Amino acid sequence: MIRPFQGMVPRLGARVFVPDSALILGDVSLGDDVSIWFNCVIRGDVNGVRIGARTNIQDACCLHVTNAKWPLLIEEEVSLAHNVMLHGCTLRRGVLVGMSTTIMDGAEIGEGCLVAAGSLVREGFQAPPHTLVAGWPATVKRDLTPEQRALTESVWRRYVRYKEAYFQDGWPVAEPPIHPDPQPGFAVGNPYP
Ligand SMILES: CC(C)(COP(=O)(O)OP(=O)(O)OC[C@H]1O[C@@H](n2cnc3c(N)ncnc32)[C@H](O)[C@@H]1OP(=O)(O)O)[C@@H](O)C(=O)NCCC(=O)NCCS
Repeated sequence: MIRPFQGMVPRLGARVFVPDSALILGDVSLGDDVSIWFNCVIRGDVNGVRIGARTNIQDACCLHVTNAKWPLLIEEEVSLAHNVMLHGCTLRRGVLVGMSTTIMDGAEIGEGCLVAAGSLVREGFQAPPHTLVAGWPATVKRDLTPEQRALTESVWRRYVRYKEAYFQDGWPVAEPPIHPDPQPGFAVGNPYP
């Protein structure tokens, strides 16, 4: 389900996959070839959410933002495994976030990092590029091994293929809703509630 909020209509690139059970609302933009999987919630109601091309957000992820303070930025070719919780943080290009991890406000995960499954990333945490971040709370463990780099690179590529397989099976390409009076997003003038 893709819904406007206060006139802010989600913006979608080409060949984006959003099944009915996912909710995308408000000031959210999705790049080309993004896939959002079953039962995800992406709520751009009090700040903006940007998701770059070829990123996949797997089943039951929950993405939100902080009013007037922390938008959510996810760059290109990022993978969020099942049941990830992101709040007001930044994920640079090519990050893989393992299952059931939580990343909180103001944290920034550098390009190509792997955040291990089941981790808790604290507010404001900064992860250097291409490192393994793991634990509860998470720390930077070390540079990624070649195997971990290969895993991180492979998941987003697979998910671009998976959503194309769903399109072949008749699942629709996502379309934004029509709104009679669309409003700009928070970064370009819409007031915070
Ligand atoms: C990170 C991961 C790949 C493990 O890799 P690994 O090669 O076994 O890890 P390493 O041996 O390099 O571990 C390095 C350190 O991180 C710790 N660590 C690894 N995985 C961890 C986890 N999930 N939680 C907490 N700590 C973890 C290890 O204990 C080790 O800590 P130490 O150096 O203090 O002893 C794996 O735990 C993971 O999260 N995979 C992603 C799974 C997933 O979500 N798949 C879905 C993709 S679609």
